[in-house]
Formats: sequence, C-alpha cells, structure tokens
Amino acid sequence: MTLTEIIFILAGTCTVMLFGVKLICLVMVLAPKICYPLPESFMTSLGKWAVITGGSDGIGRAYAQELSKYGMNVVIISRNQEKLDRAARTIELATGVQVKVIAADFTKDNIYGHIMECIEGLDIGILVNNVGILPSQIPCRLLETADLEERMYDVINCNVKAMVKMCNIVLPGMKERGRGAVLNVSSGIAKIPCPLYTLYAASKVFVERFSQGLQAEYRSKGIIIQTVAPFGVSTSMTFHQKPDLVTFSAEDFVRSSLKYLRAGDQTYGSITHTILGWIMQAIPTWVLRSEAFQDNFEEYVKERIRR
Ligand SMILES: NC(=O)c1ccc[n+]([C@@H]2O[C@H](COP(=O)([O-])OP(=O)(O)OC[C@H]3O[C@@H](n4cnc5c(N)ncnc54)[C@H](OP(=O)(O)O)[C@@H]3O)[C@@H](O)[C@H]2O)c1
Repeated sequence: MTLTEIIFILAGTCTVMLFGVKLICLVMVLAPKICYPLPESFMTSLGKWAVITGGSDGIGRAYAQELSKYGMNVVIISRNQEKLDRAARTIELATGVQVKVIAADFTKDNIYGHIMECIEGLDIGILVNNVGILPSQIPCRLLETADLEERMYDVINCNVKAMVKMCNIVLPGMKERGRGAVLNVSSGIAKIPCPLYTLYAASKVFVERFSQGLQAEYRSKGIIIQTVAPFGVSTSMTFHQKPDLVTFSAEDFVRSSLKYLRAGDQTYGSITHTILGWIMQAIPTWVLRSEAFQDNFEEYVKERIRR
C-alpha cells in the first residue's frame, strides 16, 4: 500500500467516525425523553425551592412558571417590584406554589447581603442564573456603544458577576445536601466569534467556561451544572420577535430545554437550536469576521427590529 493510499484511508475513516459521532449526538438530541429520562418527581427531588435571577419576565419568568408546574416553590429576583408581584401572583394562582420576590438590581454590587438574607435556610434545589443584558439593543461595534464606560460594567456585573456571586451563595447548601442543579443561561453566539455582539458574546463565553469547570468540580457531589445556550427566543431582549421555525416563545424554549437537564454540562436546549449551532460553527470564521458580513448583519438586524 502506498503512502497516498494510507492517507486517503485514514482521512476517510476519520470523516466516517466524525459523522458517526454527530449522528449519535443528533439521535440523542432528537429523543431526550429516552436518552435523558426525567421522572416527574426529579425536580422536587433536588429540593423544594428554585431561585431564578431575572425571573419576572422573558426566559426567567418562563423558568419560574415551568418549575412551579413541577411543584417547586420559586424565588424570583429582578429590579421592578410591580413586575415581580404580577409574575408571582400569576404563578401562585396557576399552580398554588409559594413564590417569594426579591427586588434587586444585578448591575449593583451591594445587593448580595440582602439576597442572602431573603433565601437563607431555604432548601434550594435549582438555581437558574438567567439574568443577562445586552450592552446595546441594536448590535454595533464596541466603540459605537452608547455610554460604553457605564454599559461595560453593567454587562459584566449582570452577565458574569451575578452568576458567580449567586453560585457562591447557593452552592454551599447544595453541596451539604448532596443534591441540586445550577442552570446558567448562556447564548448560542458564545460558540462562534461574534462581532457586533463582542462584549455580550465574550460575557457568555465566561458563562460557558465557568460552568464547565464548576461541573467538573461538583459532579461527584451530586450537583448538575449546565449551560443553556439558546439562539432566538421571543422576549423583550429580542423586541418580542414573532416566534417562527428558529425563534421560540420563552415558554416553549424553557419546556424544551428542561428535557435536557441530564444531557451534560452544555445544551442548546432544543433540536432546532442544536442544528443551528452546528451550522453556525461550520461557517468559516473569516466569513464571520469580514467587514461585508458585519455590515450586512447589522442592516439585517436593524431591518428586523424596524419591522
Ligand atoms: N431572548 C433571546 O433570544 C436570548 C438568546 C440567547 C440568550 N439569552 C439570554 O437569556 C437570558 C434572559 O434573556 P431574556 O431574553 O429573557 O431577557 P428579558 O426578556 O429582557 O428579561 C430580562 C429579565 O431580567 C430582569 N433584569 C434585567 N436587568 C436586570 C438587572 N439589572 N437586575 C435585575 N434584573 C434584571 C428583567 O426584569 P426587570 O427589568 O424588572 O429588572 C427581566 O425579568 C439572558 O441571560 C440572555 O442573555 C436570550
């Protein structure tokens, strides 16, 4: 056999193996109920309470609603007291569970003592680090961000620091009880170089790496730590874009993503977003980095928002 033949055979074998692995992954994503079965009592077996940051609206509120349907009491934390009370009333009326609300602004540093006091002694089974903000509603180059100096602290405090601080508050109890789950909401755009969302995407890369490391440290203590990385979800962050093939309603997304709770330390939370993630990662990075792509993408997003 010649060297060229050996190289071709090796390349062929690697390609077949790569596609084989992708196929197995796809089958597992397509059948979460079979591959990652969750008994009805699984959520409450982790603890009586779920704590959700940014829980009064969007994806966070959907997590609070969905987890309450499993019989968990919920604590929701965000800034606006009225919105919190409204969300709490809706959940209590629908499911009869207890709902605690905490008004706190995650862009600030001095909130964690109060949060700790409010949730002290609760048997917390699930922590959803959901709060996250964009530096600018319209994607733009970093230096074009309005009030950049202030916004960069806000984004880092909300998207990065809040997650680390909340883990520091909640994890010790989970470790002591030997059970619990921490869901850290990342973003599909953390998986690719993402100009025009540079600061936001970088903050979400932190979420991913932090979660992977933490899961390795605490898996043996009975704690699940997972990043959930959606692409499009119809919320105020995305101007309540109409749900379609790739954009989910917050409720549908959360219902789907919870099925992957036992699927490992990272999930896109749905079949559609998993496939979208694979497609995005297959795009050569020089395309994503090109000026032409950036200009067209900026125009496309502005046009969608305008519509
Ligand atoms: N929507 C998407 O397409 C999408 C895609 C990928 C990832 N994500 C991620 O998913 C998470 C949730 O996004 P979303 O679309 O549901 O956002 P959203 O609709 O804007 O909801 C944000 C929630 O966070 C609260 N919040 C905002 N700023 C806060 C602050 N400084 N301190 C405390 N609470 C604050 C809001 O309530 P108040 O305003 O009353 O404080 C609200 O309850 C974020 O981490 C986001 O990065 C979203």
